[in-house]
Amino acid sequence: MPSAAASSRLPIRPLPDLLISQIAAGEVIERPASVLKELVENALDAGAGRIEIRLEGGGIRRIVVTDDGGGIEREQLPLALARHATSKIASLADLEAVGTLGFRGEALASIAAVAAVSIASRTADAVSAFRLDADSGEVAPAAMARGTRVEVADLFFRTPARRKFLRAEATELAHCVTQVQRIAAAHPAVEFNLWHEGKAVLRLAAGQARARVLQLMPESFAEAHRAVAARAPGIELAGWAGLPSVARSRADAQYFYVNGRYVRDKVLSHAVRAAYADVLHGAAQPAYCLYLSIDPSRVDVNVHPTKIEVRLRDSSAVHQFVLHAVQAALAESARAAAGESAAPLTRLADLAAARGPAGDRRAFAAQPPLAIEQQVAPYLALLADTGAPAAAAAAASADAPPLGYAIAQLAGIYVLARNRDGLVIVDMHAAHERIVYEKLKRQLDARAIPQQRLLIPQVFAADPLDVAGTEEHAPTLAAIGLDLAPAGPSQLALRAVPALLAEGAAQDGPRLARDVLRDLRDYGGSRVLTEHRNELLATLACHGAVRANRRLAADEMNALLREMEATERADQCNHGRPTWVQLTLADLDRLFMRGR
Ligand SMILES: Nc1ncnc2c1ncn2[C@@H]1O[C@H](COP(=O)(O)OP(=O)(O)OP(=O)(O)O)[C@@H](O)[C@H]1O
Ligand SMILES: [Mg+2]
Repeated sequence: MPSAAASSRLPIRPLPDLLISQIAAGEVIERPASVLKELVENALDAGAGRIEIRLEGGGIRRIVVTDDGGGIEREQLPLALARHATSKIASLADLEAVGTLGFRGEALASIAAVAAVSIASRTADAVSAFRLDADSGEVAPAAMARGTRVEVADLFFRTPARRKFLRAEATELAHCVTQVQRIAAAHPAVEFNLWHEGKAVLRLAAGQARARVLQLMPESFAEAHRAVAARAPGIELAGWAGLPSVARSRADAQYFYVNGRYVRDKVLSHAVRAAYADVLHGAAQPAYCLYLSIDPSRVDVNVHPTKIEVRLRDSSAVHQFVLHAVQAALAESARAAAGESAAPLTRLADLAAARGPAGDRRAFAAQPPLAIEQQVAPYLALLADTGAPAAAAAAASADAPPLGYAIAQLAGIYVLARNRDGLVIVDMHAAHERIVYEKLKRQLDARAIPQQRLLIPQVFAADPLDVAGTEEHAPTLAAIGLDLAPAGPSQLALRAVPALLAEGAAQDGPRLARDVLRDLRDYGGSRVLTEHRNELLATLACHGAVRANRRLAADEMNALLREMEATERADQCNHGRPTWVQLTLADLDRLFMRGR
C-alpha cells in the first residue's frame, strides 16, 4: 500500500466496500462479547423462546448462536449480510418509535467483515433450511428446525492489529457471560444456555422476572432487596433494589434497562446512586436491577453504535423520577436502620436553628428518635470529666490554632478538641482522608507520587477481568504509584504502593488494588487520569486514611488538627460529608436551654 506522506497526498476516492465494513465494525465489534450481543439481540428480535450459545476459545475461535425464532427466507439471506439492510425499520418515524433491539442493519455486515460468518435459517413454511456462507456467497440446503443459526469463526483473523487487543480466552469468556446475563435479565421468558468448549457455563430456564434476576444477582441479594414500582404519565420504573447490606466493592451487580435495553447512562446511574446516598457511604456499590419504561419518543437510542448509551429528552425530570422511586423503595429499610446507627452529625448551629427557638418543647418532642440532644449528650458527659487544663489554657490564648488542641478521642471515631469558640468535633477518618487526598493530588500534579515497594509482594485472587485490566492500565497504575502485575490467570501481585498509603496497604493492599481496578474499569482506560483523576485519587485516599477504631495518642491527634488547618477544603471529606463541626459555647447554651 502506498503511504500517505504529506507531500504525496492520495487522490480522493471511494473506499472499497470491505474496508467500509471493517471500519464500521471497529465501532461495534470490539471483542467476542460484542459479536455475541448482536447475535443474541437478533435472535430476540426474531421472537426466539430459546437461545443456545456455543463458544470455543473464549469466543475468539468460534461463536454459534441458535434460536427458534421466525427465521429468514432463502432469498433474503444475502440481504441479512448486506450493510444498511434491515427488516426492522423503514422510516424515520419507525426509528423514533423503535421497539426492536436492532435497527441499524449493520451488525451482521460488520461481523462478516472481521470474521468468517455463515447463517443457516428456516422459516415456518420453508421446505428445508438454507445456509449462506458469507465468504463465498454460496447458498446450500441445510438441515435444521425452524429458526436461525449464525456461526462466527476466527474473529479478527483479517485484522491482526485488532486481534492483538483481545485478552486471554478466560477474560473474553467472562465478558461473553456478562453480556448474556445483561440481556437475559430483561428477557425472563426466554431460555438461555451458554456452553464453552462443550461445558455448560450458564443455564437460565424461562420463567418469572424476579426468579431470573435472583439467578443473576449475588446470592445475598435474595434475602435483602426491595421491590421498586413507580409510575407517572409516560414513565414507569420497576425492578429490585438491593439493601445496603448487599453493597459490593465493584459495580458489577448493577443492571439498568431503558425500554428493555441494557444501558449505562450517567444520569440514570447517578439518580440511583443518589437514592442510596443516605444509606450507603463511600465507595460501596449498590446492587440493583431496574427497568425504566418510557415513551419511546422521549428517549433517543440512536446515539451510540452499540446502543449502550441513550439520550433522554428530559433528563432532569427522569433523574428526579428514578431518584424518588428508588428512595421510596429503600425508605422503609432506612428507617429501620436509623434505630441502630445515628444519622450523620451535621453543622450543629443548623441543627439548633432547625429545632426552633430555645424552650420550644413541642419542637423538641417532634425530633426524630435520634435527635441532636441524644447525640451530643455523651460528648458533653465526656468533656465534663476530661479536664485537660493545659489544653484549656492554650486554646484560650490569642494565637491558638483555629481547630484548637485535642482533649480526647471518642468511640474510636471522633477527636474532640477545645478551641477559642468552644468544642470542635472531628471525624478522624474523614479528615485524614481529605488530607491524604489533597497530598496525592499535589504529588500527581508534580508527576511524582513517591512509591514504596512492599517487602513481600501481596499475591491475591482476582477475577480474570481484573488481571487483564492490569496490563491494559499499566501506565495509569504506574502514574499513581501502584505496581500491580499478573501472577497467574486469576492472581495478581501487588508489589508497590504510593508511599502515603504504605501503612494502610499493609492491611488491605488487595482491597486497595481491587478498588482501583474497579475504578479503571468503570471510568474507562486512557482518559481516566484526565477526566476521572479526582475519583481515582479519592479511592486511593480512602485506603490511606486512618481507619476508625485506631487509638490515637494526644500528639497524633494534634498533628491531625494541624494538618487539617494546612489542607485545602479540609472541612469536607471526599464523599462530601463534613470532616469536623464546631460547637460554640452559644450552641451548647442553646442545647441546654440556658439563657445567657
Ligand atoms: N436470528 C435471526 N433471526 C431472524 N432474522 C434475523 C436474525 N438475525 C438477523 N436477521 C435478519 O437480518 C437482518 C440484519 O441483521 P443485523 O443484525 O445486521 O441488522 P439489524 O438487527 O436489523 O440492525 P442492527 O445493526 O442494529 O443490529 C435483520 O434486520 C433481520 O431481518
Ligand atoms: Mg441486529
